[in-house]
Amino acid sequence: MGNTINILLLGSGGREHALAAKLAESPRCGELFIAPGNGGTLAVGENVALDENDPAAVADFARETNCGLVVIGPEAPLVAGVADAVRAAGIPCFGPGAAGAQMEGSKKFSKELMGRANIPTAAYGSFTELEPALAYVRVQGAPLVVKADGLAAGKGVVVASTLEEAEDAVRACFEGAFGAAGSTVVIEECLTGPECSLLAFTDGKTVRPMATSQDHKRALEGDLGPNTGGMGVYSPVPIVTEAEHAEMERIMAATVAELAAEGIDYRGCLYGGFMLTPEGPKVLEFNARFGDPETQVILPRLENDLVEVMLACANQTLDEVELSWRPEWAVSVVLTSAGYPGSYEKGKVITGIEDAEAMENVTVYHAGTAVNDAGELVTAGGRVLDVTALGETFEAARDLAYAACEKISFEGKTLRRDIGLRALKGREAWA
Ligand code: AMP
Ligand code: GLY
Repeated sequence: MGNTINILLLGSGGREHALAAKLAESPRCGELFIAPGNGGTLAVGENVALDENDPAAVADFARETNCGLVVIGPEAPLVAGVADAVRAAGIPCFGPGAAGAQMEGSKKFSKELMGRANIPTAAYGSFTELEPALAYVRVQGAPLVVKADGLAAGKGVVVASTLEEAEDAVRACFEGAFGAAGSTVVIEECLTGPECSLLAFTDGKTVRPMATSQDHKRALEGDLGPNTGGMGVYSPVPIVTEAEHAEMERIMAATVAELAAEGIDYRGCLYGGFMLTPEGPKVLEFNARFGDPETQVILPRLENDLVEVMLACANQTLDEVELSWRPEWAVSVVLTSAGYPGSYEKGKVITGIEDAEAMENVTVYHAGTAVNDAGELVTAGGRVLDVTALGETFEAARDLAYAACEKISFEGKTLRRDIGLRALKGREAWA
């Protein structure tokens, strides 16, 4: 234990509301600033107008407010080198510097690192010109997965089942559909199997895996429709075998060891996105941060003091920390604005959150919300709320989450009704 410290948290999504709530629970948490925050983080700390992607502005603010910890939620500030500036100012920071953030910021970088460390992942080619990319597509044949190299808010990946779709995706990337993110294109072998995410805390030396979780990326029920930032999630993942779990943990440790061996000092959360293929778990992608909405089911199950764990990552004392998890299952359903991930309207008044939260074991995390001039809580983004429930069984958690969703209203409220359904049916549901 020690004195309280002021904390600056960057970001504005459901992930950040969950992080803010968990940080605020800690007896170590002094003042908590969230930049820019949302309509939910207002209740647990102070929202501040600060450009989260400006390294000097973030470091200056943290110094002026005497922060003893800066926590970086989203990928963009990590890639922009905000963690480097904060650490250079002598302030402990949870989140990798720009070098480590390439694990997410460049698919080519992470694929090459995986190659050097012999980490199981899809076979691939990477291209900066259209013709060689198209030639590769034709030689490999469909299905193929086409990925913009850089950051594209989870939307830069096309799983193409025909040659034509793959060629179109490659052309779209080079024509600038994802801006500069698409000037390099990674084309991968299409893997099959259930997906599973394993996030880990690390201080660059010690790796402490968290509980498993699984997101639902597609917009529509039955895993159809376009990819989104995530429509719902549960933890733990019941269909993972012990051998698969051990292999995912081995891969996370091997990845951090490779980063360290290459001189990259990675302190924060490393997110491993896996596919459980017939040949064993293979990495689909790494993210350099907590998942959104994975965080909204992982943190409610974490029994540790999050401030202590994050300080241990920032100060390289994670070997002294053991994680412990509540045995309950967690399910979180995302409520979105109609039209998401395409265009949608904002400013719709939201009601019923108090009724949902009055239900035992229900927490509603705000994602895209704001308070309007009339003091009303309104929608302000595509993903609006994350309704998380804990239960003694997977089914109980799931039923409770959906019952809580019913209490909440806003014009255009949209949700997938099949979050967790496939996992509930067992591994055979992926055959
Ligand atoms: P990523 O952002 O790289 O995780 O990709 C987004 C989604 O695309 C993943 O969650 C998978 O559902 C799918 N995906 C990515 N890579 C592959 C692959 N090599 N084979 C099959 N599906 C993939
Ligand atoms: N939920 C997927 C992600 O955070 O990347």
